[in-house]
Amino acid sequence: MKEIKNNSLRINDVDREVTLYGWVQKKRDLGGVCFIDLRDRSGIVQLVARNGECYSISSSLKSESVLKVVGVVKERESKNPNLDTGDIEVELSSIEVLNSSLDLPFEITDDTTALEDTRLKYRYLDLRRPNLQNKLKIRHQITMAVRNFLDQEGFLEIETPVLCKSTPEGARDYLVPSRVNKGKFYALPQSPQIFKQLLMVGGMEKYFQIAKCFRDEDLRSDRQPEFTQIDLEMSFVTQDDVMTLTERLLAYVFEKVKGISIPLPLRRMKYDDAIRLYGSDKPDLRFDMKIQDISSVFSNTQFTVFRDVIDSGGIINCLVVKNQASEYSRKKLDQLTEFVKTYKASGLAYLKILDEVSGSIAKVITEGELDHLKNTLHLEKNDLVLIVADKYSVVKTSLGALRCKLAKDLGLIPAGKYELLWITEFPSFEFSEEENRFVACHHPFTAPLDSDVDKLLTDKAHCYSKAYDIVINGYEAGGGSIRIHQEEVQEKMFQALELSPSDIENKFGFFVEALKYGTPPHGGLALGLDRLAMLLTETENIRDVIAFPKTTSASDLMSECPNVVDSKQLHELGIALDL
Ligand code: AMO
Repeated sequence: MKEIKNNSLRINDVDREVTLYGWVQKKRDLGGVCFIDLRDRSGIVQLVARNGECYSISSSLKSESVLKVVGVVKERESKNPNLDTGDIEVELSSIEVLNSSLDLPFEITDDTTALEDTRLKYRYLDLRRPNLQNKLKIRHQITMAVRNFLDQEGFLEIETPVLCKSTPEGARDYLVPSRVNKGKFYALPQSPQIFKQLLMVGGMEKYFQIAKCFRDEDLRSDRQPEFTQIDLEMSFVTQDDVMTLTERLLAYVFEKVKGISIPLPLRRMKYDDAIRLYGSDKPDLRFDMKIQDISSVFSNTQFTVFRDVIDSGGIINCLVVKNQASEYSRKKLDQLTEFVKTYKASGLAYLKILDEVSGSIAKVITEGELDHLKNTLHLEKNDLVLIVADKYSVVKTSLGALRCKLAKDLGLIPAGKYELLWITEFPSFEFSEEENRFVACHHPFTAPLDSDVDKLLTDKAHCYSKAYDIVINGYEAGGGSIRIHQEEVQEKMFQALELSPSDIENKFGFFVEALKYGTPPHGGLALGLDRLAMLLTETENIRDVIAFPKTTSASDLMSECPNVVDSKQLHELGIALDL
């Protein structure tokens, strides 16, 4: 068995005889003496092959061959301060090639320039890179910390089924055909939501699971079709209880994994305020630059574009970019205009506060309006004001996105900083233009605020819920809610979602039935483990923290999946393809 980590050898090991295992990272053959960098999961140690047999084996070694070597630790003549083991080397007395390797499709180093598709095709080679190994190690540390913490808090880790009933609400389900019950399908769980609530009905009181979830949705850099949640649920709790427990869990994980102390309690912001100030329900608070409402400055404007917006009930908002006016050329501002247009804004107006005020609306803004604007926004010389006038949602979304783009472009985000906050009081419903009805913002089991129960049927647009999201550095790291535990409120909710009694019976019959047998008040939350791992390993690519990820077109390039199956398999399932 391998007993020594390569990276553990130091100067005080000199004269010790060691047996080491690992992969050949690289070798330098100087003729008569050969130096080999031997890599294992812990790091690299330098081997020296001088004696005849060792040298002749070494000089013919290929990169990524697997070795077992025996040798004596020696102090190096020329030390390498870049390596932990840089003070020593191991002078070989024997070398055994346990396995050789084909020529590599790419060099296995952290600064590889190989395309990601090539690395995904040969993921097992990519995984040998220290960078990826380290990220998976951090992911492991996160799950260990979570398990330890929740165990100490009295939670039970319980597995829930992966073959489930399809209850489409939210993303699309992945379906699995049943052979035994031809024509019927299971669905892979989008989350263990219903089961964890049933565990509360089942008297388990505190549950958690590191759960695989499956969602057939459009993928982005922070989304995978199969991903992992740290899922938890608790009985006899209020919203505050779940939030406090989660904060303590996160603080514990940050401390254990990164040695960072997160000050508690975390700040809380209502959903409506987050949209108003940051144009997003996951605001990145590592930098300031709030969205400011300047509608009142232009209440009497004769500038037709603004006038029309105000008259049709829209708003005028802006961002102030401090001390940057002279840096933004016409070309750069045109690019920003194109950017906000992708968020449906009709345009981007701007003002540069230089010795003379210039910009796209400099000629139409009156002196009075300019003074009003300067006072409202506390403008100083060289400030740049970027303005969107449109309907509320377009203004907020486009400026929210622009705010993040500017922060990236201008380097306003300090490295290594973490800003955590809660977003609370989400609306219960959002209007789906596609379905022409109100749909659940979170899911249909989320309780409305006590004060809003009556609005479930009378004022859906202003009904708010006991839902909360935890946001870290602009990512939605998790979300949850207090659930409806009274059957009559659940029925109102289904009615509000315009589900017919037969819809309810078909989709959730067993669940609604369960609520009738003494359901305790309960609530919970799920953290996205992959997203948490991204944040703690400081990567923006979710694939970096998943051993075998899928591409943005939901395929695995290594095993070439999804793929066609035998007609015999389809026949057994009673499935005919109609492509
Ligand atoms: P929600 O749908 O908000 O809530 O999911 C919880 C968290 O899971 C992560 N997440 C994802 N991560 C990677 N790829 C995806 N496709 C993906 N989708 C979601 C996010 C998100 O915040 N059952 C509820 C939780 C509850 O109410 O207790 C749920 O699933 O970080």
